[in-house]
Amino acid sequence: MTIRPIITAPDPRLKAVSKPVEIVDDDIRKLADDMLESMYAAEGIGLAAIQIGVPSRVIVMDLDQKDGKRRPRVFINPKILWASDETTICQEGCLSVPDIWEDVERPSKIRAEWLDRNGKRVEEEAEGLLATCLQHEMDHLEGILFLDHLSRLKRSIALRKLAKAKRLKEPA
Ligand code: NI
Repeated sequence: MTIRPIITAPDPRLKAVSKPVEIVDDDIRKLADDMLESMYAAEGIGLAAIQIGVPSRVIVMDLDQKDGKRRPRVFINPKILWASDETTICQEGCLSVPDIWEDVERPSKIRAEWLDRNGKRVEEEAEGLLATCLQHEMDHLEGILFLDHLSRLKRSIALRKLAKAKRLKEPA
């Protein structure tokens, strides 16, 4: 498994629409493993393949790392089948938008389907953090960042903050 660098906004690659996975094979499992290693190394709870520069519809997640145990999940070609009218506002962050946290409103519950790391179809109803995180990661597959859900003013403030932090990290 290899830790790969995570791309940060405003990198244009983050706006790419990712392509469906045709066959869940060892290459895809290797990609998912690399994504998980990269996610854990960055102390994140979710990651989409495009965040390490691969435009494939693969998402990894581990929402339950509290006791030091890992419970990794892999979502391939995920689709939302149903979303509730009821919405929830949740504070979101993103490894591609470091150190910025903003409230985002999304459907509270969703029913989704995907393929697991063995290519088996899974259908599940999600709420709470899983629903929020799945929708956030699935946005990445469409080239959408959580910042795109904010008002124009909030988004431009966040992007300025991000640019400033990048300049401080990479002195000329
Ligand atoms: Ni993200």
